[in-house]
Amino acid sequence: MRSETLPWPFLIHCIWLGVMGVDASSWTADVPSSVSGLQGSCIVIPCSFNYPESEEKPSEFTGIWFKDTNDVIYHPDSSKVFTDYKGRTELVGDLRQKNCSLRIDPLHRNDKGPFYFRIEIEDHDKYSYIRDTVSIAVSSSPDPPSLSVREEVKVEEEVSASCSVSHSCPSDPPLLTWSHSGTPSVQSQQLTNGQWEVTSSLTFTPSITDHNKSLVCTAAYMGGKTVKRSKILNVKYAPVDVKVEGVSSVKEGDSVELRCSSDSNPAAHSYRWHNSRGPLPTTGPTITLENVTRLTEALFCTAINIEGQGQSSPLKLNVEYPPEIKVGSACTLDISMVTCLCIVDSEPPGTVEWSLPAGPLPSTRVERHGSVTMVTLQRALGFLETIHCNASNTQGNATLSFTVSTNDKMLMLYVSIGIAALVVVVILIPMSACLLTKKGSRRSDQPVTSKQDVDTAKGAFLDPSTSRKEQKDSSSEIHTNYYTNDHLYGNMEAEEDGDPYECVGGDDAVYANS
Ligand SMILES: *[C@@H]1O[C@H](CO)[C@@H](O)[C@H](O)[C@H]1NC(C)=O
Ligand SMILES: *[C@@H]1O[C@H](CO)[C@@H](O)[C@H](O)[C@H]1NC(C)=O
Ligand SMILES: *[C@@H]1O[C@H](CO)[C@@H](O)[C@H](O)[C@H]1NC(C)=O
Ligand SMILES: *[C@@H]1O[C@H](CO)[C@@H](O)[C@H](O)[C@H]1NC(C)=O
Ligand SMILES: *[C@@H]1O[C@H](CO)[C@@H](O)[C@H](O)[C@H]1NC(C)=O
Repeated sequence: MRSETLPWPFLIHCIWLGVMGVDASSWTADVPSSVSGLQGSCIVIPCSFNYPESEEKPSEFTGIWFKDTNDVIYHPDSSKVFTDYKGRTELVGDLRQKNCSLRIDPLHRNDKGPFYFRIEIEDHDKYSYIRDTVSIAVSSSPDPPSLSVREEVKVEEEVSASCSVSHSCPSDPPLLTWSHSGTPSVQSQQLTNGQWEVTSSLTFTPSITDHNKSLVCTAAYMGGKTVKRSKILNVKYAPVDVKVEGVSSVKEGDSVELRCSSDSNPAAHSYRWHNSRGPLPTTGPTITLENVTRLTEALFCTAINIEGQGQSSPLKLNVEYPPEIKVGSACTLDISMVTCLCIVDSEPPGTVEWSLPAGPLPSTRVERHGSVTMVTLQRALGFLETIHCNASNTQGNATLSFTVSTNDKMLMLYVSIGIAALVVVVILIPMSACLLTKKGSRRSDQPVTSKQDVDTAKGAFLDPSTSRKEQKDSSSEIHTNYYTNDHLYGNMEAEEDGDPYECVGGDDAVYANS
């Protein structure tokens, strides 16, 4: 039985209050009428109380919490605590400081209350503050955090965002985390009615990749519940990734439209175009080049928005044209060799081949420098007739024909007799002729070499001016004197057919000379 629940003491209390004017020494408790808490998390019910001061200092206090059904939900002697609350309640206030705050951990769905506090002061008095009850609004899921960040941020400029959430458990506040790296700082603040607010402020530097992406703040509550709030970042940045786009290749003489593409926020509002000679009179995102040629210069564009500008790297158009056989293409003779060089300019490079009327000949050497292809053919003397250099690519083809000759027929004849003699030796004495052949070849070659070098260098070099004319009309052929020798030709055939006269362990010089 608790006498203070009767109206009499209460009435006396009121009269006494009225007389004294202050509640400093009356039976009063201060608790919020309602606090809200999250199921599974903890709650601290703030509570302070007062009692009429007596002469002697009170020595010992016992604080008890009741539910309105008179179930004990907290007692220092835990055996007296109602089963439902055993082990979950704790008096966190210091009674000597008139602090009767109660902690419930974890909070259950049915912990609604109302609850009230009772104080028992040894050798003094006891009182239940039944008029000051507190209810708990238990929620099953927390409210999402509130998140604030500027509407628009600039790239590489430090910005601060803040995320806050209220809770009822100061010992284990929810943990706030961010989706973006940065420097967070956390503050906690007590609100009224047993609520606390924890705020995380994130200082970060947005990058271009953050544009149109969510900044997320997540609150993880004790008990495992998480809630999040996000905001889309609008990151302003100057044009990047500026490129000149268009066809990858174009035919010479065609016109071509190129576009300046870029990534920026906001979109680029104007453009500038340049080539190596200076600005071009175009300010739009596209430019049309009429009649492009292989000499059309590389160009680049600049995209501009309110945040700044960005420049592309230069684009050199890949202009395609059919093969042209260039000046310098020629055949030369020396004592025993004909060397032909064909210089072809074409885009794309395509193929360059040598051929006789009988069919194609394998090239000795192919060199490529950009659009220029240089193909060399080196053959033993003896097949002297018309040689074609055939060049073709996707755009067309070109042919230049060379007819090799020498002005010094006597000399050629002399050389040919020497070599013909050698052929006879080789053919008539097939197996045992190795040593003889070597001797013969040395004898016939040595005196001729120096003279022949000089003469053929003069006589057999095609006139470059003739070659130039030839490029324009690539179907015509150059007809100059040429010299044919069936024996020489036969000699050549023999060599080509897999060297039937080669001796095992024989000297390769035989063939090098022929
Ligand atoms: C009562 O105690 C609680 C727990 O220690 C504390 O958080 C609160 O601030 C105290 N209240 C007052 C009024 O001192
Ligand atoms: C932003 O992203 C959304 C989808 O994530 C997309 O639909 C939208 O076009 C984007 N806006 C801009 C301006 O990039
Ligand atoms: C294209 O260029 C060539 C060579 O410069 C010129 O002869 C021709 O007239 C030009 N064509 C046009 C349509 O401009
Ligand atoms: C090279 O061109 C000539 C002349 O146009 C032609 O007769 C010959 O067949 C061509 N050879 C090849 C391999 O294309
Ligand atoms: C070479 O060009 C001519 C004329 O353009 C064409 O008729 C011929 O078919 C072409 N030959 C090859 C092998 O491309």
